[in-house]
Amino acid sequence: MTNDLVIKDLRVNVADQEILKGVNLTIKQGTIHAVMGPNGSGKSTLAYTIAGHPNYEVTGGEIWYKGQNILELEADERSRLGVFLAFQYPVSVPGVSVANFLRAAINAQRAEEGKDPKETAIPIAQFRKMLREEMGKLQMDDSFARRYLNEGFSGGEKKRLEILQMSMLKPTMAVMDETDSGLDIDALRIVAEGVNRNFTPEMGVMVITHYQRLLNYIKPHVVSVMMDGQIVREGGPELALELEAKGYDWIREEVFGNASK
Ligand SMILES: Nc1ncnc2c1ncn2[C@@H]1O[C@H](COP(=O)(O)OP(=O)(O)OP(=O)(O)O)[C@@H](O)[C@H]1O
Ligand SMILES: [Mg+2]
Repeated sequence: MTNDLVIKDLRVNVADQEILKGVNLTIKQGTIHAVMGPNGSGKSTLAYTIAGHPNYEVTGGEIWYKGQNILELEADERSRLGVFLAFQYPVSVPGVSVANFLRAAINAQRAEEGKDPKETAIPIAQFRKMLREEMGKLQMDDSFARRYLNEGFSGGEKKRLEILQMSMLKPTMAVMDETDSGLDIDALRIVAEGVNRNFTPEMGVMVITHYQRLLNYIKPHVVSVMMDGQIVREGGPELALELEAKGYDWIREEVFGNASK
């Protein structure tokens, strides 16, 4: 059995307004799948809905992963199934250090029903070693481990922290929502290398981005275009180049028959 993420006719309301209007999309196991599309087309809404954010009201459709319709699962259950979301706008959590947050997240993932959490918890020495190693790969200073989550972090530091979470939690289905935005040239490369390093044939990765630039570093197998709450095009990496050169109006015209929508 392959572990594709299969989204069927997904409809989602936000604040009583329909934002996703029947999304059909499959992220195949072993692929990096880029999702592009104009501002406000519903990309982040899709990302949050996959992760299980409670503000996103699903009014129709299914999301299948590892034999389950994950819409029936809570966000933490989805996480345990291997689903991970790197936020477009990471939130800060004053009072919770990066190290404590990551350890709690790993332990929550390792927890098993009916077992004492102490039995399944990651040994502290092993955790510290892993954290040091992964921070080193992302060229993050050790002091970040003691800082409060995203509190006072620069835009680029926040994005690196999202990759650090991915490296530590080792998801099988990673959704990266504009992990490239606000990064300088070096940070972009470091973050992209982080995604590539963590990518395995067992994984599916959905990379939401506006720019071909990121896709020079993270080579997508498939590129999909979202527009007005639907996936309207799918192609290979060349589709991203075409969008970069021509913008979105030509697709709009083809799909909706005019460029004004
Ligand atoms: N909490 C909310 N309340 C009202 N409208 C919302 C809310 N969240 C999202 N929307 C609306 O849903 C639409 C889709 O937003 P979404 O963030 O999914 O777009 P996006 O494709 O990620 O855009 P961007 O490329 O700018 O990140 C937008 O029109 C947005 O204003
Ligand atoms: Mg967005």
